[in-house]
Amino acid sequence: MSDDARFAASWLALREPVDARSRAERLNELAVAWLAERRAATRRPLKVLDLGTGSGSNLRYLGPRLAMPQHWTLVDQDAALLDIAMADVAPYEAEARCVDMGRWGGRPGELAAWLDGTDLLTASALLDLMSHPWVTTLAEAASRHRVAVLMALSVNGDWRLDIHGPASREWTREDQRVRRVYRDHQATDKGVGQALGGQAPAVMASALEACGYRLYLADSPWVLQGPDDRALGEALLDGWRSAACEQAPEAADAIRDWHAARLACWRRGELTIRVGHRDLLALPGPITPTGVARR
Ligand SMILES: C[S@@+](CC[C@H](N)C(=O)[O-])C[C@H]1O[C@@H](n2cnc3c(N)ncnc32)[C@H](O)[C@@H]1O
Repeated sequence: MSDDARFAASWLALREPVDARSRAERLNELAVAWLAERRAATRRPLKVLDLGTGSGSNLRYLGPRLAMPQHWTLVDQDAALLDIAMADVAPYEAEARCVDMGRWGGRPGELAAWLDGTDLLTASALLDLMSHPWVTTLAEAASRHRVAVLMALSVNGDWRLDIHGPASREWTREDQRVRRVYRDHQATDKGVGQALGGQAPAVMASALEACGYRLYLADSPWVLQGPDDRALGEALLDGWRSAACEQAPEAADAIRDWHAARLACWRRGELTIRVGHRDLLALPGPITPTGVARR
């Protein structure tokens, strides 16, 4: 497993409540309407395939909102994270599969077998790690099986730090430079070829649209500022520093100075951290919902 595709359970636990409050509820409602029709036709529990499950955040968020009997297949390459996920699946049926999804590129038959009988293909916080060919292969396979696709919390490459209080000032050149270096790091190989990083939501949307899907897109940004967000904000700033230093070692001293200054502001409660994400729902069927911007 590539180190850049390895995620600590503690990091996933920190982000889970913020992910939940940031996700686009309206897309869930559209998905539920479509899936309820599908279930009326199949008369069996909904089959959900969750890619890059980690410790199970997507199931814990979506399960109660789908509000139907469900069978989840949880896929990840990290067996320890899958164990955590499987410890908390009630009241749903669930099975865990420890698999490197990178290998699906060369084995489309294996992906087809996974999708057979699936009603909803979903993932959260995954797509930016994956490559353009991988996403295209996934979209094509999903369309062949006419499954609904719900991809939540794909980073779109935007983040900004707003300083308020006595140290208030505009978005600075150092912030922009670190963001640029960090974006370059997001686009490095995470084990499945060159990662899409902030391009992920747009690439997935185009791939699904090319397969005839109807798309619904909504922003799901993190806005971090209160005491409840303190630990996640610190972990995020630390992560940006490490990634940027790895990407641009020649600028490491300046990056560390930037980090120390921003961390001090964050600890004084004088910083708002915004991280852009996009949620995407793609439906193959004829239901025509209203009230959400279609692409
Ligand atoms: C950012 S975490 C998101 C976890 C979870 N979906 C959530 O929202 O908390 C990405 C997950 O994708 C998994 N992953 C990354 N690359 C993978 C691959 N090639 N095959 C299988 N799992 C992979 C990682 O192990 C990790 O659990």
